[in-house]
Amino acid sequence: MITWGCQMNVYDSARMTDVLRPLGYTPVADPAAAEMIILNTCHIRDRAAEKVFSELGRLRLIKDEREAQGRKTVLAVAGCVAQAEGEQILKRAPYVDIVLGPQTYHRLPEMVAKAARAGGSVIETDFPAEQKFDFLPEAEAPQTVENVTAFLTVQEGCDKFCSFCVVPYTRGAEASRPVASVLAEARRIVASGVRELTLLGQNVNAYHGEGPDGGTWALAQLAYALAEIPGLERIRYTTSHPRDMGDDLIAAHHDLPALMPFLHLPVQSGSDSILRAMNRGHTADDYRRLVDRLRTARPDLALSSDFIIGHPGETDADFEATMQLIRDVGFAQAFSFKYSIRPGTPAAGAPLQVKEALKDERLYALQALLREQQDAFNDSVIGDVAPVLFTGHGRKPGQMVGRSPWLQPVHVDGPADLVGTIRPVLITQRLSNSLVGNLVEECVPA
Ligand code: 5AD
Ligand code: SF4
Repeated sequence: MITWGCQMNVYDSARMTDVLRPLGYTPVADPAAAEMIILNTCHIRDRAAEKVFSELGRLRLIKDEREAQGRKTVLAVAGCVAQAEGEQILKRAPYVDIVLGPQTYHRLPEMVAKAARAGGSVIETDFPAEQKFDFLPEAEAPQTVENVTAFLTVQEGCDKFCSFCVVPYTRGAEASRPVASVLAEARRIVASGVRELTLLGQNVNAYHGEGPDGGTWALAQLAYALAEIPGLERIRYTTSHPRDMGDDLIAAHHDLPALMPFLHLPVQSGSDSILRAMNRGHTADDYRRLVDRLRTARPDLALSSDFIIGHPGETDADFEATMQLIRDVGFAQAFSFKYSIRPGTPAAGAPLQVKEALKDERLYALQALLREQQDAFNDSVIGDVAPVLFTGHGRKPGQMVGRSPWLQPVHVDGPADLVGTIRPVLITQRLSNSLVGNLVEECVPA
């Protein structure tokens, strides 16, 4: 299983592994040892398809070599490139046996059987009427770091149609899993030792799942129910849309200590005219006010965001408005990207595309500011005692690594049995993207 792209792909790969296990397949590290190779792909930005074709060229050599030795090898392409470019893949890489979009993973065993029987290629990129989660087997404990943290998809797809984005086309319409199925999976995952759960969705805070009471539950209600699970110490969710940040969810950040004080809340731009062109449905000031309300509810809340530089029509003044928003809000961490044309999306054909050189210049300035803010945020916890959830071994011998409530990696010298526990750590030093500290004895609230 080769996984590219977002956390949801990581989760999906684990679920594809689960669905194949009853057929006798188990994951291996080396593609040359694999009877089936699944490439789980991402289509969000530039050159996604080219990257897939070049990887397929490499995998073809492995497949050919194995088959020359009489060992059959099934080659499958999954994920968002499969969804968007399925026909192209079969045309340009006819040695691919299976192409499957993200909504068809439950049909994988059937496709494997078909490919074996017919010998030809099988393609499934429809959006089936049935929900794949109703047909996928129960999730095994997900293979994350030492089984301490895990992802759980609760919502998928998007109806927002931002001008630049392929997700509504590759992942399909917004759909939420029923509450009972989410809670059951969460309980199983926690029983296997996981202490921190990250709920996933392309618009996770638009979650509206069928509740056990027959009503529709929002993400906030789900969070309160999850917080009741004994042993589940930390809850996160990603990715959120500012428009779906309801009062109930903001209140949950105040009420639930398990809801971690770190929120990825992409704003994309700080210019009202670009936000309008992007079809984001809110202004820069709406975002500022939302952040204020979140910080009132949970004063230690830190924010993370995504930014797009050079959306069609972005002027110097628009870019400056983005810089101003960043200065006003202050981000603990952020991802920033140059706008990249995605065929079939509204912005792709828009006039006033921004020149690459100008995008480079703006991105450089923006990333310098974000880096300053990230360093300042990491510096601000030096001298504090923070509760660290230990996830595994650090790079140096005798060193263990964990994560703070704000998702900062923290290294300490300590014994291996720290893994899976939350311990108070005195933060002493900042490295470029992580922190160093010492275990301390006193108890601090999580
Ligand atoms: N160009 C650049 N960045 C994009 N993103 C989504 N589509 C594009 C695009 N066409 C970014 C957004 C989104 C993140 C996952 O990827 O910032 O939040
Ligand atoms: Fe893409 Fe916008 Fe939907 Fe996010 S909200 S997945 S950026 S269309």
